[in-house]
Amino acid sequence: MRKVLVLHGPNLNLLGEREPDVYGRFTLEEINKDLEERAGKLGLELKIAQSNHEGELVEAIQNARSWADVILINPAAYTHTSVAIRDAIAAVKVPVIEVHLSNTAGREGFRHTSYISPVAVGVIQGFGKQSYLLALEAAVTLGLGR
Ligand code: DQA
Repeated sequence: MRKVLVLHGPNLNLLGEREPDVYGRFTLEEINKDLEERAGKLGLELKIAQSNHEGELVEAIQNARSWADVILINPAAYTHTSVAIRDAIAAVKVPVIEVHLSNTAGREGFRHTSYISPVAVGVIQGFGKQSYLLALEAAVTLGLGR
């Protein structure tokens, strides 16, 4: 059984009501339910957390080094600002897939820089909630964390 930490960053708790034309009308609970279903089929065990606080995300990444095989993270706005999250990922040996609902490359210029991408295995973005499911599939197909 492979263990996967799924981390959702700031404001993703508001999915459904937050800029639905950009992020979709589904809620975070719906994403998490879909992830749990897919994980069950893939034989993965998930731990899912959301935080609006940078330090909590850093701590979750640090703690994952003792148990997680893979981390999927949507760092949300911290993607474009957080050296602390980038350094936490670089510090742990757990492979990380960066996930975004929207295609950040097609949006405002400030979203074109990711502090996270250089330390991630790869990035999946622009596919709405499918981005998360594709990331889960990628983790299995690539045998990450084995
Ligand atoms: C996001 C993209 C970020 O630029 C933004 O700050 C978010 C969500 C996405 O999933 O598309 O909060 O990470």
